[in-house]
Amino acid sequence: MIDGDYGEFVRRFPSYARTETLDELRARDYSRLDRQAQAYLDYTGAGLYGDSQIASHAELLRGGIFGNPHSANPSSQAATVLVEGARARVLDFFNADPAEYVAIFTENASGALKLVGESYPFGSPGEKAGRFLLTFDNHNSVNGIREFARSRGADVVYVPVELPDLRVPNDRIDIELGARPDTGSSLFAFPAQSNFSSVLHPLEWIAKAKAQGWDVLLDAAAYAPTNLLDLGAHKPDFVTLSFYKMFGYPTGIGALIARREALSRLRRPWFAGGTITVASVQGDRYYLSEGAAGFEDGTVDFLGLPAVRIGLDHLAKVGVGLIHERVEALAGWLLERLTTMRHSGGRPLVRVYGPLDTKERGGAIALNFADARGEPIDHRFIEEKANARGISLRTGCFCNPGAGEIALGISRDELATCFTSPAHANRLTVDDFRDCIDGKSTGAVRISLGIASDFKDVRAFLDFARGFLDN
Ligand SMILES: Cc1ncc(COP(=O)(O)O)c(C=O)c1O
Repeated sequence: MIDGDYGEFVRRFPSYARTETLDELRARDYSRLDRQAQAYLDYTGAGLYGDSQIASHAELLRGGIFGNPHSANPSSQAATVLVEGARARVLDFFNADPAEYVAIFTENASGALKLVGESYPFGSPGEKAGRFLLTFDNHNSVNGIREFARSRGADVVYVPVELPDLRVPNDRIDIELGARPDTGSSLFAFPAQSNFSSVLHPLEWIAKAKAQGWDVLLDAAAYAPTNLLDLGAHKPDFVTLSFYKMFGYPTGIGALIARREALSRLRRPWFAGGTITVASVQGDRYYLSEGAAGFEDGTVDFLGLPAVRIGLDHLAKVGVGLIHERVEALAGWLLERLTTMRHSGGRPLVRVYGPLDTKERGGAIALNFADARGEPIDHRFIEEKANARGISLRTGCFCNPGAGEIALGISRDELATCFTSPAHANRLTVDDFRDCIDGKSTGAVRISLGIASDFKDVRAFLDFARGFLDN
């Protein structure tokens, strides 16, 4: 039964009423949430699978005999059909023209990002190379590409995000895109949705960057679960994602969706079983396979891949647009309520990092709690208390140090002092780091919404938050 503020909520966010089929979905496919009285608020960490996905996958596995794909025997052929079916479904789901794009299966988004980083032709050490341009707001698996770029002589340029919304001003992007080096290949990387602030960065940057000769890497890991990415309308060279974030199951499979032309310019640093047409020991040569096969090392997860097709079908049937609408309404309500909660002395209970309304933002909210004197409450303490209430939320910096440093006011100078201290030459623990930056918070609390979220989840968190008033 839903009571309390529900009436006021639907008056403020009438679009929620249009998403009631998602309540039926929750009752049918995600009833374990209510049976176990859990409030799951970590969809940016991992999506949740529906019971029907697991049932369909189990039925398929029970009914078939599947061997290692890409051979001629019947069990192998059966597996090949499933793998190629999943591949075709991925392109179809994202409206990517198979003549233009190819879907490469990886172990997760990070695996897809590493494939790009290690193979991108930035240049060779010693020669004038291109540039790696990226936003402060990026997951560490994108930040890590800077190490490949530097090792090949490319320079690395970061575009900062600005307070209070943690967005990148368009004029800053215009300046940086206009400054592409004349030599070498240059890559621009940004997340479609921030995993820290949930900011939706403009997809229009893709065409702008392409028009100025950049290759574009769009990290869609946090975006794809609640937004439909249309690769017929926006055409980055590389898109990276993890399927468990979109529909919970299977884990351990992600994709690099790449433009065929851009893929043909990548140079893999090695070859492996499955990636070559011919390799010779005595002749000391190898020839890479064309397309996806050249980038899938060894045997793909051929039993897990059918569950990707099942998951995509599930999302398409539910409707990503509908999920988006519900998540937007719930996030809007959370933002309104949380930002108006005050201790009796008048100080705010929380500080939200990122946009305070639903415009151009997704359904995750990063915040810190403050006590009645305005002192921050350690996010680890908040997590401990949330755990005891059956609320799953996430704390820390969510592998996004760039957005985190700006949000938490950690300066370049403070970081330099910390990292150049002889005591930290080789090792730095999180506790050392906290001491280094003078006890400032090194992280935040993140709550995030998704396919099975409902008003009860949001109310559970608001009730929980209220418990910290006047503490
Ligand atoms: C925006 C973004 N990019 C990349 C990743 C990395 O995903 P994975 O850990 O599945 O490789 C994440 C994970 O949280 C993410 O949120």
